[in-house]
Amino acid sequence: MIRVLDDPEALAAAAAAVIAEIVTVSVERDGRCILALAGGRTPVGTYRVLARRYGDELPWNRTHVVFGDERLVPPDHRDSNYGMAREALLRHVPIPADHVHRVPTERGSVEAAAEAYERELWSLFDCGGDETPRLDLVLLGLGSDGHTASLMPGCDAVGDRRRLVTWCRLDRLDHPRVTAGLRLINAARRAVFLVSGGAKADVLRAVLEGPVRPQRFPAQLVRPSGREPEWLVDAAAARELADPPTTAPG
Ligand code: 6PG
Repeated sequence: MIRVLDDPEALAAAAAAVIAEIVTVSVERDGRCILALAGGRTPVGTYRVLARRYGDELPWNRTHVVFGDERLVPPDHRDSNYGMAREALLRHVPIPADHVHRVPTERGSVEAAAEAYERELWSLFDCGGDETPRLDLVLLGLGSDGHTASLMPGCDAVGDRRRLVTWCRLDRLDHPRVTAGLRLINAARRAVFLVSGGAKADVLRAVLEGPVRPQRFPAQLVRPSGREPEWLVDAAAARELADPPTTAPG
């Protein structure tokens, strides 16, 4: 399902509404919601709207936040996805501190941080090792190289179907990255991509309409619970799509 929103502001409003609906339904159904936040710049507007419009009405005390990926930097580093989410959302809503599960990047190596984070997720979900924990939502971005989370082209993490949490270390990256693996991402009930801006138009067309080349475009591997992911994109990002769906109301 692809929804094209007029502009980044409409995209943020639509994405915040989807997140709010998933939190509400999940807490009603299961008594809690566990959602994975995306990093990067695109989600900032969504997180701000979520805090501003839904900060008082959502059951934050029954919600847990984990991170789809994280750079190996301290939490107050300008490149920290946790730091970005804290400033845009988490410090503005009444979510209990122990419901925010940041990646322990202070472990010194990306492998140690990933292994520690995986242990934390197993204990959070409290399910047996043979089944895969099921996120209620995984929010994802799309990199201009076709990556999502930190599943980068050329990274072994793309092929890892065993770990819940793995890592990516590439010379071209500013920092090594801890990332959810496809085992965790594809076990989610829903996966929603947020894509904004003309700079993503070519890669969005390649991912959605081009040949299936998952090693080149790891985002093509996202299939939550065996279904197609959901795409919330703005008109600039959608401008190269051959048959763009009609623009949804903002
Ligand atoms: C990260 C993200 C990454 C991001 C894409 C898009 O840590 O950078 O998790 O997957 O979503 O690179 O980034 P922008 O939203 O900044 O374009």
